[in-house]
Amino acid sequence: MNPILKAIQKSAIRIKHAIDVKDIGYSQEQNSSGETQLQLDIQSDLIIEEELSQVEGIHTIASEEKELPMLLNENGHYYIAFDPLDGSSLVDVNLSVGSIFGIYEGEFNASKMIASCYVVYGPRVELVFAHEGKVALYLLQAGEFEFVKHIHLNEKGKINAPGGTQQFWAPHHKAMIDSFFARGYRLRYSGGMVPDLHQILLKGGGLFSYPGATDKPEGKLRMLFEVFPFAFIFEVAGGKAVDGHKRVLEKTAAHVHDTSPCFFGSSSEIDEVLSVYAGA
Ligand code: F6P
Repeated sequence: MNPILKAIQKSAIRIKHAIDVKDIGYSQEQNSSGETQLQLDIQSDLIIEEELSQVEGIHTIASEEKELPMLLNENGHYYIAFDPLDGSSLVDVNLSVGSIFGIYEGEFNASKMIASCYVVYGPRVELVFAHEGKVALYLLQAGEFEFVKHIHLNEKGKINAPGGTQQFWAPHHKAMIDSFFARGYRLRYSGGMVPDLHQILLKGGGLFSYPGATDKPEGKLRMLFEVFPFAFIFEVAGGKAVDGHKRVLEKTAAHVHDTSPCFFGSSSEIDEVLSVYAGA
């Protein structure tokens, strides 16, 4: 596992550099010298592919940016699914973005997930890694990722991060979101899954939801690249992750890019989601 974590760290440092470099961003067709540039998300994808290709134990990678999985080494046994730069359009408005990695053994199946990781590129670069029953937070300082602490969610939080377009929400979903606000939960939603979930994890808890709605019955977020990795992290941190009816980690993605409704949070909020959805 260590070589994989090291490759992710190297990718993160290179992606952070790509984000920081002048002329990258702002839709990126051309830079000021008139050269065509790669979009940041494509560039990040290539960086991660290059770093992971150097780790012998990796069998196959799947990326949010690639149509199909890519075989790296027939003799490897790790399968890694990643979203190279989630929320990349937020770079143009200078909000935080992130990279997400799900690490599986033998196949891309939630029950085979053994570790999960994400990186937040914000005012600081932080990396969160869940493995062997612990969720560890690292901070990039002077070119090195230094361990900061382990993350644990409280039973209950104070943040409500409701995704999707309200006009398409089911009435029971809207009533549930309103009821959290009526009980003093505060709205925290940037439109970047990584910073929005990072905030809930670091502030002790709350609820992030991206429901199925009339415009997107299966939600928006992709199981392999977004939903499963965060579900693993939330569960290891003592929280829960469901699709409204069951644990998302009990679901199967028939196709690499399949999406699922999802709710992540501390256990009290997620129990409430389950009971509201059961009665709907
Ligand atoms: O999947 C991309 C993404 O930007 C996530 O990072 C984020 O949680 C979600 O989409 C936001 O979607 P919406 O703007 O529909 O709430």
